[in-house]
Amino acid sequence: MATIAVLFAALAGLGYVAVPLVRDVAGIGRAITPTRNGNCVKIQSLSGCEDFWMHHESGLLYAACSAAEGKKHWFPGMANLHADQRTLNDAVYILDTNSDLKTNPKVTKVKTEGFSGLNGDGTFNLHGINVHVIPAVSTDENPTLRIFLNNHRPTLDVQGNLIDNTKTGANSTIEIFETTLGSDSMTHVRTWADPLIHTPNRVAPVDADGFLYTNDHQRKSGKHRDTIETLHPVANVGYCDPAVGCKIVYSPSALPNGLVRLSQHANRYLVPYSGRPHQTLFDFDPASKALNKVVDIPVGMPSDNVNMASNGDAFAASFPKVFDTAAVLAAGDPYNRKAPGTVIRIPAADLASAGADGWHIEKFYEADGSDVNVITNANLDVARNLLYLSGPISPHLSVCSV
Ligand SMILES: *[C@@H]1O[C@H](CO)[C@@H](O)[C@H](O)[C@H]1NC(C)=O
Repeated sequence: MATIAVLFAALAGLGYVAVPLVRDVAGIGRAITPTRNGNCVKIQSLSGCEDFWMHHESGLLYAACSAAEGKKHWFPGMANLHADQRTLNDAVYILDTNSDLKTNPKVTKVKTEGFSGLNGDGTFNLHGINVHVIPAVSTDENPTLRIFLNNHRPTLDVQGNLIDNTKTGANSTIEIFETTLGSDSMTHVRTWADPLIHTPNRVAPVDADGFLYTNDHQRKSGKHRDTIETLHPVANVGYCDPAVGCKIVYSPSALPNGLVRLSQHANRYLVPYSGRPHQTLFDFDPASKALNKVVDIPVGMPSDNVNMASNGDAFAASFPKVFDTAAVLAAGDPYNRKAPGTVIRIPAADLASAGADGWHIEKFYEADGSDVNVITNANLDVARNLLYLSGPISPHLSVCSV
């Protein structure tokens, strides 16, 4: 990473355009000011959860998890591509946040039904999770959930044997499952495999079948691809549904990451970037399937996943020191070195007006990595002032009183 830091520092000499990259993306010179940190319960049974989704009404948190120590071998998002050492026990878990989180947190592993996995082994390699809720017809029934997962399958040869993925990259797909809120099983609906689903990071469902998604890179492998694609954006946002198939709806983007559908504004989506210090608001046109840029939001640092709180505020897990984050992630070791993390709040009113009255961005949380080392996902439980934090190499998910 040192050489990359030098490269960025050298770019500072190139003048104005490079300054935001060095200062705001890389975070060189940025001070860490601990904010609302340190008051967390660590849920040890939820390890290696890159992403989670909250059902605010019930307090059920759906997390996509995998053994944290496996990420140093197989983590296509970080170009760690030793497929033979990938984890084989990835699963969706439900944390009931109404249970006794301190002494007896209720965690349920969600079984899959009708999912063949790789060569019939039933496994998947999880990363992002997002959900489309189909309301129940009567109020005494639970809603149906369509769960959208990106699955980093390893690439196989034509005989179905595992090959060296360090050259090919992963064969990532998007998997749709259906379940009932709270159920301990989910039924496979469809695998989306398409050349345009290239390096999927996260899905944002548009309805029960159609979805937007980010490809976080153009290159599937390569040591310096993060730096190259930050300096020269080439990644994109795609859309798929059964009627039109898949198409790219926005490009180029600088490492687009965990996008989300706004909860209080129909057809509006927020796309964060881990290669830019802003996020972009888009309007999706359901008739033409076009994704139209509304405005860039100056959040001040690169971000990973963004989520909606129940009041319509957006919370973004963000990287104040992106080189530290990349180094800890690549090493896959949460114990010997920490990367600081920040959670940015974008108020609902700003999102609704698209910043007409300015942006009132708040640094809601910041810490040195002690609560969760490398935070990639965060959301606020507004009613109870609990901040949920998780990350792909963290041996626990944290629930923090804020
Ligand atoms: C990629 O995954 C899809 C879906 O399982 C499969 O049909 C395809 O053969 C795979 N391709 C490779 C090269 O592994």
